[in-house]
Amino acid sequence: MYKIPFNRADIGSRDLALLGESISAGHISGNGPFTKQAEAEISKVLGSHKTLLTTSCTHALEMSALLLNLKTGDEVIVPAFTFVSTASAFMLYGAKPVFVDVCNDTLNISPEAVESAITDRTRAICVVHYGGVACEMEKLSEIAKRHNLLLIEDNAHGLFAKYRGKYLGTFGSLATQSFHETKNITCGEGGALVVNDPHLVDRAEILREKGTDRTKFLRGQVDKYTWVDVGSSWIMSDLLAAILCGQLERADEIYAKRIHIWNRYNNELAKWAEQNNVMTPIVPNGCEHTGHVFFLRLTTGDSRDRFISHLRDQGILAVFHYQPLHLSKVGRTLGGREGQLPVTEKAGDCLVRLPLFNTLTDAEQSFIIETITRFNTRAE
Ligand SMILES: Cc1ncc(COP(=O)(O)O)c(C=O)c1O
Repeated sequence: MYKIPFNRADIGSRDLALLGESISAGHISGNGPFTKQAEAEISKVLGSHKTLLTTSCTHALEMSALLLNLKTGDEVIVPAFTFVSTASAFMLYGAKPVFVDVCNDTLNISPEAVESAITDRTRAICVVHYGGVACEMEKLSEIAKRHNLLLIEDNAHGLFAKYRGKYLGTFGSLATQSFHETKNITCGEGGALVVNDPHLVDRAEILREKGTDRTKFLRGQVDKYTWVDVGSSWIMSDLLAAILCGQLERADEIYAKRIHIWNRYNNELAKWAEQNNVMTPIVPNGCEHTGHVFFLRLTTGDSRDRFISHLRDQGILAVFHYQPLHLSKVGRTLGGREGQLPVTEKAGDCLVRLPLFNTLTDAEQSFIIETITRFNTRAE
């Protein structure tokens, strides 16, 4: 067991009280009062047309794929440096994910690489705001518009982050959120589909309710509900939505704590990082991030692995992150090969994430920082 884990979920007394309320009220399936409250709250803050809570971000991505009406042979451009779901959701519904490289500063999808990957089969671009630091959304929006492509934001890390004053998750026609245990706002497992294009709302509601118009029925818009389209069971239980409401109530406090921890790592590791040729995260002007991950990039895979062992020996769990998708078993069947996407490959080898969660104490963080500054990348 680790003295300091990588993540510690923070479900507080208010979250538990709301969970209890949900149980007492008796509406514990989806589309209940807490679901509506959380959806309204997120839509209000983002200013988005509609937010639909889902069972996960992966499922919100799958709903996006279905909303695209993909045909075999269609292509969706995704970064190679991301979680599996960003690609597999589109593949599940018939598209070929086309992997492109990320920028070396932010590890976000490169607009130039996107532009060169567009073919007459491209249907959509799905971007990921790594660590809640925005992609270059003006360029990407312009490219999507010029080529008539749907823009989707996989915003698993970036709820309430901003790019030039505008919330992430409001640039694409669709955006997906995650409330998985490791995310800033969590209910264990969960997600949301943010629908910014009003034309997609009706169908999104139907897909989430097993292909029926049950949501319209619950609003009294139809007098019975029936099967109208394909779909699945992607609606979050109101039990989890109740926890989510508790988390959303204290979002300001959670975010302030995470940003405090992120800033401390950034300030107190700067000198050590420079001396050891280690890259710390770069946040471009105009990006207000979420403090979701603090990562270091060492110069080689070997020194990254030694760094992880050094921390493990002191009871601290630091972990690597995405392995390049184009070099995965599935990625290789799609033509992926070594050397193709160098920034992604290097990040896969050399990046490590430090413990970052809102209940990390100052003393625990001081211990992590001291342990890190005793590590010399040039040793041995
Ligand atoms: C960028 C990205 N997209 C999607 C997901 C999947 O999220 P979920 O576990 O809510 O399905 C993750 C998970 O961490 C992620 O990092």
